[in-house]
Amino acid sequence: MDFELLHRLTTAFGPSGYEAAVRELIRKEVAPLVDEVEVTPLGTLIAHKKGSGPRLLLAAHMDEIGVIVSYVEDKGFLRFAPLGGIFPLYAIAQRVRFANGVEGVVAVERRKDESKPPALSEMYIDIGAPSREASPIRVGEPAVFVGETVRVGERIIGKTMDDRIGCYLLIDFLRRLRTSRFDLYVAFTSQEETTLSGARTAAFGIEPDMAVAVDVTLTGDTPKALPMAVELGKGPAIKVKDRGMVAHPRVRDAMVEAAEREGLPYQMEILTFGTTDAAAMQLARAGVPSGCLSIPCRHVHSPGEMVDVNDVERAVALLLALVA
Ligand code: CO
Ligand code: ZN
Repeated sequence: MDFELLHRLTTAFGPSGYEAAVRELIRKEVAPLVDEVEVTPLGTLIAHKKGSGPRLLLAAHMDEIGVIVSYVEDKGFLRFAPLGGIFPLYAIAQRVRFANGVEGVVAVERRKDESKPPALSEMYIDIGAPSREASPIRVGEPAVFVGETVRVGERIIGKTMDDRIGCYLLIDFLRRLRTSRFDLYVAFTSQEETTLSGARTAAFGIEPDMAVAVDVTLTGDTPKALPMAVELGKGPAIKVKDRGMVAHPRVRDAMVEAAEREGLPYQMEILTFGTTDAAAMQLARAGVPSGCLSIPCRHVHSPGEMVDVNDVERAVALLLALVA
């Protein structure tokens, strides 16, 4: 694994709707590997590797969850709205960073009833500003959570495995790609965590014959987890369904066959909440047969998202087998 690349990807600033820094980093990596690189009006980066076969669209999202300032109080404390699915319990006491480098901490008001977890509306960001007038941050500025990416044995822990691990995986896929039976489009999408609009519009423009999202999924292998037949380190998961889609059987089966052919371990995924870019891509134009290849990930949408290196490498091998 190219941990140096993964580290750069996972620590770049890219809250949903503000992916420019991640996009430039990815553009430099993929431009030498493909025939054309294009950025859509909504900020999705599309790398095109020309071929004579049917059009296949692979997609991973560049954006990460974050917060956006909704109000600045007289004393300089910042109220915020979520950019994507923020769990209040995970937000408490986290450090956040704005685009201009200013950092703050998420704190909780004193509450009458402390038996229940606080809502985001009961929290504020303290950047140490003395007043609204003197605040270096204004309404409308987005921030991301702060967190290092570390490798612990076969596992990687970081704040943006969702879905920079997918971006990493597709870059690695392009680096290793030799032959493809497809006219191949690899999209690094914007705004998945908020609206899926980057993938939706990219799919409309490309008009693919088939689409596969690469994203993280939850696992059932932690204490008192929801019963779910996905574990870390047991291979990539081939999605059957989630809250936003039923994977097209042809796409799902093509991935299963590719894994079987290569002797790669894989798991079947049924996710009872959440969805991915695949849900939006399948709705482009008259409909696109779509599926999703998932990287099992613990503690999704926390600053400690954890994946297994072997799952990532097997997912790359599976995609290479799928297009061969
Ligand atoms: Co997510
Ligand atoms: Zn994701």
